[in-house]
Amino acid sequence: MGIRTIGLLTSGGDAPGMNACIRAIVRSALVKGLKIKAIRRGYQGLLNGDIVDVENRKFVAEIIHEGGTILHTARSKEFTTQEGLMKAAAMCRGHEIDCLISIGGDGTYRGAYDLSNYGIKVLCIPATIDLDVASSDYTIGFDTALTTITDAVGKLRDTSSSHERCSIIEVMGRRSGFLALWCGMAGGADIVIIPEKGEEYNSDLLAQRVLNNKMIGKTHTIMVISEGMGDNIELARQIEEKSGIETRTTILGHIQRGGHPTAYDRVQASMMGGIAIEIAMEERFNRALCFKDGKYIDIDLGEAISMKKEINNTMWDILHLTV
Ligand code: F6P
Repeated sequence: MGIRTIGLLTSGGDAPGMNACIRAIVRSALVKGLKIKAIRRGYQGLLNGDIVDVENRKFVAEIIHEGGTILHTARSKEFTTQEGLMKAAAMCRGHEIDCLISIGGDGTYRGAYDLSNYGIKVLCIPATIDLDVASSDYTIGFDTALTTITDAVGKLRDTSSSHERCSIIEVMGRRSGFLALWCGMAGGADIVIIPEKGEEYNSDLLAQRVLNNKMIGKTHTIMVISEGMGDNIELARQIEEKSGIETRTTILGHIQRGGHPTAYDRVQASMMGGIAIEIAMEERFNRALCFKDGKYIDIDLGEAISMKKEINNTMWDILHLTV
């Protein structure tokens, strides 16, 4: 009989490029004669019935270049309960949603998988600045966040070198170090600390590395640290006390999630949105869309959420050869 209605939501932390993805989904779906129900505020919005019919492509006009998500996003506790999932599944049925497309990161994938166990057909698209969706080499938003952070590191380099200081820059990433590793390489950081190589997070060791850096003739030190390692304001105090070198910490915070998506993010988002509709039309459900070895593929969602993403050790080694 084929599918008739797609539900669409964004969930978890927003990521630049989500709008470009929403745009591609809506436009492709409408061209193929599908109905689209836009769900606002993620899974919580689904529970609340915060759902609108998308009448035409005007709904997604002038958004390809905008950061954030026009659908809004939220994190929902209620959705993780059995009652919440039953209610969400009933809401999908009530709105005659044949397939729910969820755009987001790890938590979004888990939510979609749980809902699929209540009989709802789902598809997931990877979008998070953290790059930590294991099933996909790329996640929408990473390139934009990386560009923002690298720009900030460049600016901090100016003032750090003028004052001959050590600058600690704390970047996002939840429990993974991809953003820190990539911006450390792109920004030419002297020291990069990530959860996957957490043993280096030690003020004695770091004070010594800052001193060594000075000894080899560097006037200042750029240290990038992934969030969640510890209190980096306190770390700066300890490094300064132990090395005698002035040290300042900058926590970049949510600025990393905002801004116009880069061209790369817009293209990835548009491709993934369009391909998700193709998958839905072919009636392949409970799938995770992945960008793997330069190709778009889809795999079983259960398999996708059981995977683990590793840091690229070659990248880690080259980072240390080039500092
Ligand atoms: O997952 C994206 C992310 O920005 C993480 O890097 C960060 O740990 C988290 O979201 C912050 O979440 P919130 O915006 O809810 O504080």
